[in-house]
Amino acid sequence: MFRLGIDIGGTKIHIGILDAEKNMVCHKKVYVRDMRNLPEDLRREIELLCRENDICYQDIVSCGIGVPGTVSRDGRSLLHAPNIAILPQNMAERMEGLLEIPVSLIQDSRAAAWGEYLCGAGQEMKSVICFTLGTGIGTGIVLNGQIYAGDLGCAGEIGHTPVKENGRSCGCGKRGCLEKYAAGGGLAITARELLGKGKTAEDLFEAAQAGNEKAQTEIQRAVEILGSVLVSVVNFISPECLLFSGGLSGQEKLYLNPLIDYIRTHCYSIGQIPKIARARLGEFSPLYGAALVPKEEKRKPQLSASIMCADLCDLKKALEEIEKAGIQYVHCDIMDNHFVPNLMLPPEMLNRLREITDLPFDFHIMAENPDTVIEQLKLQEKDIVSIHYESTPHLQRVLALVKERGAKAAVAINPATPVEALGEVLEDVSMVLVMTVNPGFAGQKMIPASIDKIRRLRKMLDGAGQNDIAIEVDGNCSFENVPRMYEAGADMFVVGSSSVFQKEYSVSRGTEKLLALLH
Ligand code: DX5
Ligand code: ZN
Repeated sequence: MFRLGIDIGGTKIHIGILDAEKNMVCHKKVYVRDMRNLPEDLRREIELLCRENDICYQDIVSCGIGVPGTVSRDGRSLLHAPNIAILPQNMAERMEGLLEIPVSLIQDSRAAAWGEYLCGAGQEMKSVICFTLGTGIGTGIVLNGQIYAGDLGCAGEIGHTPVKENGRSCGCGKRGCLEKYAAGGGLAITARELLGKGKTAEDLFEAAQAGNEKAQTEIQRAVEILGSVLVSVVNFISPECLLFSGGLSGQEKLYLNPLIDYIRTHCYSIGQIPKIARARLGEFSPLYGAALVPKEEKRKPQLSASIMCADLCDLKKALEEIEKAGIQYVHCDIMDNHFVPNLMLPPEMLNRLREITDLPFDFHIMAENPDTVIEQLKLQEKDIVSIHYESTPHLQRVLALVKERGAKAAVAINPATPVEALGEVLEDVSMVLVMTVNPGFAGQKMIPASIDKIRRLRKMLDGAGQNDIAIEVDGNCSFENVPRMYEAGADMFVVGSSSVFQKEYSVSRGTEKLLALLH
């Protein structure tokens, strides 16, 4: 399984292919003369890259494209690309038609941040802000494991912070923007004003390096202007980590190091200040981030009603209420009084429930020898069957049995089982069920460390390019906990006595109340 990343620059296009372990197995730079033929040129270049590296084109499961402009929230349309106005707005659709794989667009500076968060200098972090110091200043923000675009989609545009009244005009239509003084484009203007026509930012650094005091002063001024804006970002968001990428970040002695010192000495801190460093992946950051771009639509929350918490004396009525509430699954706990100290919901009874509901079943098998339980179930295509990692030495074989029987396979992990244990079975499952309580009984309290565990699992799945694997949470999915579980990266929630099955209100009312918390 491979994922394709494309980073579209002004004239150069960078293509890269990642394997399931996030290794960049091959890449190439392509110079496109006429952007109007971009989709066709890309298809040809990608097939060539595959042939040169013995990769079967059909093994590429997704494509992410980093673009120098504003992208719609769903990653489908290019809304604004000032430097490459001829790129088609419906770029994702056009490219899907040609590449015949799902395509998502992502703003290139966000792709850089996402790449560093998953594979670069931000791997140990929950939050990363990555500034791409190129011609302009691009900023990507990853907060608590998710790309933050802002409600209006323009989060990170600090390059257009006004720093000089009636100053230099900017491509955004305003005057005096920060990037016109402190990024590559702005320093080139300063170089021309100081050193003469045709001079570039590199000339300015060379002059400063050679002892030209005026050049040194201009660069120092640029560092202070940028530094003061970034200090306000740090004081405002208090991120764990600031990273710098882009051509200008290569000017370490005269630019990057003085900038980092400025931020360190001027930002508000009570002891801890953010980790501040150069991005590790260099010009590859956007390529990694594009290849691993999260699927926006993946995040729709789903509910699975725990039937063991319903009125067991009137399951027909309970199932009608679950259906009426619009809940997507019936969560069926099967317990053998060995793997867990409780005995619940015999397969024969669950098979009979098929006669009174068409909803898919979300089986949670808490039993030793789970394969013998599976044999007794009448499985259907939309069903999910979660097998506990701890319940069998032959997990992979039992997961395969679930799929042979026509249902989706999932692995469940107890609170004490680390997410890292799942590495070998990610290819075999559609979902991971995270127990936030020790399984066996309803009405328990969530183990607090579960939220961080969900976040680490989401990060591991996204980092492995497996963002299509859902995370279900089981145990104390309450009105207080579910928003935190969702924000940490969970997609599906086992709703029981903590939320929808409470005497004071109907299942529908409880469901509405819960979903209203997940905007
Ligand atoms: C726990 C059970 C679930 C769930 C019940 O083993 O698998 O059905 O916890 O819901 P709560 O936790 O809300 O009572
Ligand atoms: Zn359960």
